[in-house]
Amino acid sequence: MRYTILTWGCQMNEHDSEKMAGVLREMGYERSASPDESDVVLLNTCAIREKAVDKVFSELGRLRAPGRGGEPPILGLCGCVAPLEGERIFERFPWVDFVLGPRGIANLPAMIEAARGRRRSIDVAHHQESVLFPWQLAERREGAHAYVTVIEGCNKPCAFCIVPKTRGAEASRSVEEVLREVEALAASGRREIEFLGQTVNAYKDPEGRRLAVLLAAANRVPGVERIRFTTSHPVHLTDDLITAMADLEKVCPHIHLPVQSGSDVVLRRMRRGYDRAGYLRRVDALRRAVEDVEVSTDMIVGFPGETERDFADTLSLLDEARFGTVYAFTYSPRPGTEAVSLPDEVPGHVKDERLAAIFERQRSIQERAQRAMIGTLVEVMLDGPSKRRPEEATGRTPQNQIVNFQAPGREPGDLLSVRVSAASAFSLRGTVVS
Ligand code: SAH
Ligand code: F3S
Repeated sequence: MRYTILTWGCQMNEHDSEKMAGVLREMGYERSASPDESDVVLLNTCAIREKAVDKVFSELGRLRAPGRGGEPPILGLCGCVAPLEGERIFERFPWVDFVLGPRGIANLPAMIEAARGRRRSIDVAHHQESVLFPWQLAERREGAHAYVTVIEGCNKPCAFCIVPKTRGAEASRSVEEVLREVEALAASGRREIEFLGQTVNAYKDPEGRRLAVLLAAANRVPGVERIRFTTSHPVHLTDDLITAMADLEKVCPHIHLPVQSGSDVVLRRMRRGYDRAGYLRRVDALRRAVEDVEVSTDMIVGFPGETERDFADTLSLLDEARFGTVYAFTYSPRPGTEAVSLPDEVPGHVKDERLAAIFERQRSIQERAQRAMIGTLVEVMLDGPSKRRPEEATGRTPQNQIVNFQAPGREPGDLLSVRVSAASAFSLRGTVVS
């Protein structure tokens, strides 16, 4: 019996797919390279923008075709599209066997059993106890790096965002539970741990302990060399977290801190809970405390009512904040969110122009910053062979910059000292010196 999982979206989805793979392995399934050769096909879907959902629907259309033995495989629609579409999926795509939301992975065996008995099933509840998923099951991808879920869901009211509807309310695992997982991962050779949450720094365990406490605990686990966490919300970049980043030697000097816009008017309409100056003050406090810290961000262009002046504020924020990396998106209206009913939609071509302007401005900022690193020594954790040039290795600096280099005889997880010899906006190249 074989399975395929197709995954779209964020790191949390990637990790959820690792959990699903572990559940299937327990049930006796083996991974297959293609849906055509699989008895079970799971789609772990993303709903953050309309385009992501369109991709899922077109894949669902393709999967109608019979697979091995002339029978269509058992087909499960999982992930963030599940709670949004619910029963409607069965109407549009009657060949789907079950619909399973991101907080219901523990119920996967029951859904597959039902499908074997030709019964349809649906579970799109935001189970609070999803944080108790038996982490030992997760079948993680190979390498030195491992994801660890610390908080699920999101309680923020961002007007554009569908995540609170797809993933439900926040629920945090206890510090002890997370530590057990980190210790087991370290014992099995994992060197880099990445804590995950839609709003990871809203972490608050049943005893009220915050992310800074969890980081301090993980920092003491022998064998762990690097600790990362993503994604952070600016309002929870508190002094205790900044102090933890400054003091804990294994916590990497990098934070992903989505700003979304540089305009106060837009930020207010987005209900982000901070203004431009407030955001910059937090970044400033972080930079004063944490040496060489790198800040990356997400931005949305073309939010309803965004004027040329608002957008100019976003562009100038790029110069002021000097982000290491920017992920920018055109605003996509999501059904059921507050922003769909806002007036003054921005025309598509204007959104596209603004997106291109961000890319251009940011590219030159990054190019300058990266070139300034030529000649310096950076610490790189080897990740594996580079995708584009498999004869080369790729790895990351503590600041999360990508570095490519020749590294014969080295293993994933090795920490290497690399002298930077060339730089582009998006990666560095160098030579190993030790
Ligand atoms: N906490 C999440 C962030 C939400 S999704 C995380 O862990 O990644 C990632 C990014 O998608 C957001 O920061 C935002 O920039 C973008 N995004 C969210 N909703 C969007 C929408 N409706 N249209 C366009 N971009 C959106
Ligand atoms: Fe979405 Fe805002 Fe939460 S962007 S994930 S509602 S912090």
